[in-house]
Amino acid sequence: MVSRVIPVDPFDLIIFGGTGDLARRKILPGLFRRFCSGQMPLNARIIGAARADLGKVDYQDMMRNAISEFDTNRNVENAQLDIFLAQLDYVSVDVRGDDGWSDLAALIRKDCINAYYFSVSPGLFGDIASRLNAWGLATPKARIVVEKPFGRDLESAKNLNAVLSAQFQENQIYRIDHYLGKETVQNLMAVRFGNLLFEPLWNAQYIDHIQITVAETVGVGGRGTYYDKSGAMRDMVQNHLMQLLCLIAMEPPSHFDPDAVRDEKLKVIRSLAPVEAYHVVRGQYDATLAKNSYRDDAENPRSFTESYVAIKTHIENWRWSGVPFYLRTGKKLKARSSEIAIVFKKLPHSIFGKSSDEKQNVLAIQLQPNEGMTLDVTIKEPGPGGMRLIHVPLDMTFADALGEHSEESPDAYERLIMDVIRGDQTLFMRGDEVEAAWKWTDPIIKAWETRNDVPKLYDVGSAGPEDAMALIHRDGRRWREVK
Ligand code: NDP
Ligand code: BG6
Repeated sequence: MVSRVIPVDPFDLIIFGGTGDLARRKILPGLFRRFCSGQMPLNARIIGAARADLGKVDYQDMMRNAISEFDTNRNVENAQLDIFLAQLDYVSVDVRGDDGWSDLAALIRKDCINAYYFSVSPGLFGDIASRLNAWGLATPKARIVVEKPFGRDLESAKNLNAVLSAQFQENQIYRIDHYLGKETVQNLMAVRFGNLLFEPLWNAQYIDHIQITVAETVGVGGRGTYYDKSGAMRDMVQNHLMQLLCLIAMEPPSHFDPDAVRDEKLKVIRSLAPVEAYHVVRGQYDATLAKNSYRDDAENPRSFTESYVAIKTHIENWRWSGVPFYLRTGKKLKARSSEIAIVFKKLPHSIFGKSSDEKQNVLAIQLQPNEGMTLDVTIKEPGPGGMRLIHVPLDMTFADALGEHSEESPDAYERLIMDVIRGDQTLFMRGDEVEAAWKWTDPIIKAWETRNDVPKLYDVGSAGPEDAMALIHRDGRRWREVK
């Protein structure tokens, strides 16, 4: 098969925090896969930067182990890995001081793309930005990649935007939300705007409600210190779920270009109605017998942090007037499943009698684990016996539909890093988008804090707290099964 991968231009990618968990688990294995696909040119370089006193060969060995451990999807070929690792270098740098910066500055080539990945704790983002400037590295051609969390409320996000924009233009800042790099998330736009079929129905006249579910089976073990100060609202809703909501609800952009797409997403966020207290449910996973409740994992016996959130919200515009959007996400649930379900209205009148007008068409877009779409439709049950109707899914699992092409699909991080090198910001959050998202989530979080809200407990392995079921049952609707 002819490869459809187009190599990117030569680059120096400097990863601050190059020895950390994210670099080892996601960034380097992702880059290696892009290298194997032929997208990374042989004269590209990846330079790890952290305080640890390592040599180039130590770093290459560390990343050899990381790639072997975390690139679990396929057998790593040693010959290819050796060539890839030869493109790695390392500099010992303390981003809070001047140690190591002259070595770094000397290493970076000025005649190729320079991308700086801030894969360190957010408290260090400002230090890196100002030192890049002080050492003459914040050139107009440079790009910076900023990891989440981008602030913890509107004020801190504004401060961070101000700190970064003091040294870099907005078109140089790539704020990562890895959900935007997921294949099916991008497919949402392809499905909506690449087909005539759906768009005429995509509005309040035909859609009853929309459900967005991101259910995880993992808990917070290992990340408890970060998570306990964050909770599901800041960790998942403010970024990943809101981005999904934007892609479903936005108006068609005039072009598929970064600002056209992001302008439309921003309008959605700004049109979100404030959320009433009784339209939000917070939960925390609990295990009465086993020692793996949230409070054990977070090592905080009195924690009131939520590991689950369900929200009912509305978008106040013509297209979505009166259509509820139900969002939910949680950890330690019964299955790992991320899905967006567009539930269409009931038939206005059924020619087949009462039973058939109860069923609703549902377009379910499965983000993970099995990427694909199903459309539930009504058909006649085969065989004699009159006109009996049944509801069946038209199934399009992408791996089946695309066959060999599906294996080429890069994971979120590798795609996003290549977009940085290509200079394409479409799948990155703009500063005003992030601020608008905090502006909507802040009052919800503040209300919990003001009344010392206690999260509802839910069993490990369940579908979430009972109150979350009530949230949607009250409207005569049901959550889709988490399976
Ligand atoms: P780690 O704690 O695992 O790694 C931190 C890295 O920063 C290490 O390489 C560390 O090396 C380096 N570092 C710390 N202080 C300094 C300093 N003063 N100067 C230079 N380097 C320094 O963090 P993660 O990799 O988990 O996270 C990195 C970022 O990615 C964070 O913003 C996090 O929120 C975000 N993120 C992480 C995810 C994950 O799955 N891990 C998921 C989503 C986002 P050394 O100590 O040698 O300096
Ligand atoms: C991260 C959150 O951004 O996304 C984690 O910090 C969460 O808490 C993760 O587990 C989920 O990502 P994915 O790609 O596994 O759905």
